Amino acid sequence: MILPNATLGVLGGGQLGRMFTLAAISMGYRVVVLDPDPHSPAGTIADQHIKADYHDHAALQLLGDACAAVTTEFENVPAESMEFLETLCAVRPHADSVRIAQDRIREKTFVQEQGLATAAFAAIYEDADIVAAMQTLRAPLLLKTASMGYDGKGQVQVGTLAEARTAHEQLGNTACVLEERIDLEHEVSVILARSVNGEKATYPVGENRHVNGILDTTLVPAALPPDIARNAVDMAIQLADSMNYCGVLAVEFFYTRQGELLINEIATRPHNSGHYTVDACATSQFEQQVRMMCGLPPGDTRSLSPVVMTNLLGDIWQQGEPAWQVVLNEANAHLHLYGKNEARPGRKMGHINCIADDLEQALATTAAIRKALSI
Ligand SMILES: Nc1ncnc2c1ncn2[C@@H]1O[C@H](COP(=O)(O)OP(=O)(O)O)[C@@H](O)[C@H]1O
Ligand SMILES: [Mg+2]
Repeated sequence: MILPNATLGVLGGGQLGRMFTLAAISMGYRVVVLDPDPHSPAGTIADQHIKADYHDHAALQLLGDACAAVTTEFENVPAESMEFLETLCAVRPHADSVRIAQDRIREKTFVQEQGLATAAFAAIYEDADIVAAMQTLRAPLLLKTASMGYDGKGQVQVGTLAEARTAHEQLGNTACVLEERIDLEHEVSVILARSVNGEKATYPVGENRHVNGILDTTLVPAALPPDIARNAVDMAIQLADSMNYCGVLAVEFFYTRQGELLINEIATRPHNSGHYTVDACATSQFEQQVRMMCGLPPGDTRSLSPVVMTNLLGDIWQQGEPAWQVVLNEANAHLHLYGKNEARPGRKMGHINCIADDLEQALATTAAIRKALSI
């Protein structure tokens, strides 16, 4: 067990790294952040900020020497860098798990190998793959870059062979997946923690609403039949076990209009759709991340309240700082801002958790706040 006063490291200093840092500091740990951005949201509040590239071996050496354990806030950290860190300190989650999650081809193949369903897809490396895939897949389709995509970036909707070819060129002829567009009833996600010893704790299923490929709202409890919710949790647990996962894992699902659960993607870290846990669960997903990397048992994941999480994107900063008093005047609205120095359209700047005795009330408070902030 790694106990308070020990130093913990995090690869990446965005909002997820920041909320990890806040949780770790409040539990009495010291935190070192590695992120090249001098203004990174986590770097500015950590005990130490190493401003260097994720490939920089000297910087990784410094981090690994300083820390009892290192975790990550994003999948795109080079798996080789995590492997190198594994020679210096505990690294949780393991590099192997991150390697699976950072490539959509590897990820979907791995999911199917576990006997779990994904949307029908084909791996695309070259033109011949597109031609073959167009004969078996049913349009409309989405072409997605295999790596580095997030918030709907690196995705193009296509219907015909010609469109698929143009889209592949547009995406730089890089490795991609071509995937059937699913007729969605809901999108849901499961956040879970799995400890070094294989103990697991799962959070309540969240229902996620996306706008332009970016998460907009998470609602808990999700409007799912109880047996489907149980299935989603079981599928997430199966994936975590099959990777011998250690850490916080997020699993995104499509719930189809035909009543089927498909795994969309996984994230080997806390997730935007788990931000509700900070104000509405006994243990937040960030405290859980600290616990998992320190070899502690999972904290209680019980839900304390229905909750609606609303993302705040840079778009609402166009007329200057939003009128936060409309949020802060609500007793049950919790404002979280990430301390980013520049607001750009589509950039995640913060979120609000509205809690209430029932979801309807939380939605009503959310609606009033959204109206006042013009979201
Ligand atoms: N096959 C699909 N069918 C329907 N909607 C999709 C599909 N793929 C992606 N989307 C929509 O786009 C969002 C972002 O896509 P996702 O594959 O999760 O990539 P990202 O890594 O950008 O989150 C999804 O949450 C969903 O709303
Ligand atoms: Mg996603």
